[in-house]
Amino acid sequence: MKNIILCGFMGCGKTTLAKALSRELGFTLVDTDQEIVKAQGRSIADIFATDGEQYFRSLETELIKSLADSRGNIISLGGGLAANSVNHPYLKKAGKVILLDCGIEETLKRISGDPTRPLTAGGREDIIARYKARKPLYLSVADAVIDSSGGKKATLGLALKIIKSLE
Ligand code: S3P
Repeated sequence: MKNIILCGFMGCGKTTLAKALSRELGFTLVDTDQEIVKAQGRSIADIFATDGEQYFRSLETELIKSLADSRGNIISLGGGLAANSVNHPYLKKAGKVILLDCGIEETLKRISGDPTRPLTAGGREDIIARYKARKPLYLSVADAVIDSSGGKKATLGLALKIIKSLE
């Protein structure tokens, strides 16, 4: 089967769900943030601080381009990757895209003040504006949407149903 790709805003639960799905379905787990950190030998916060956000975005695009013809992976995307329309053709080629969304209030609870996520530094209003601006971009590339505001088990159950229906 083609890849299953999880997208959505920071804190929506992509990484947690991707781990559970890779165990459940026997797919290989690919986390774009982790791949970039591994290849660069430094943290995302370091990449942003030293080379800036645009450089990080170019690394994301290179990576998703290189995954476009792969198969059998659960690909968990960094929150900005599917919000960048340059990446949409590669995502479409790579597999089925599932958007996770836990709503803005739950998002704020989960990510506010996280030092590993440079884009939370602007605070509540900035996070809300970014969430609103990104939503239509996520929706335009998604094949399905999952409400991820419930627990891990509930989200996994919803995801397995959706994946069956997308096959
Ligand atoms: C980002 C989300 C992060 C990471 C980077 C930028 C974003 O990934 O890629 O800090 O632009 O939303 P998570 O969604 O896994 O937090």
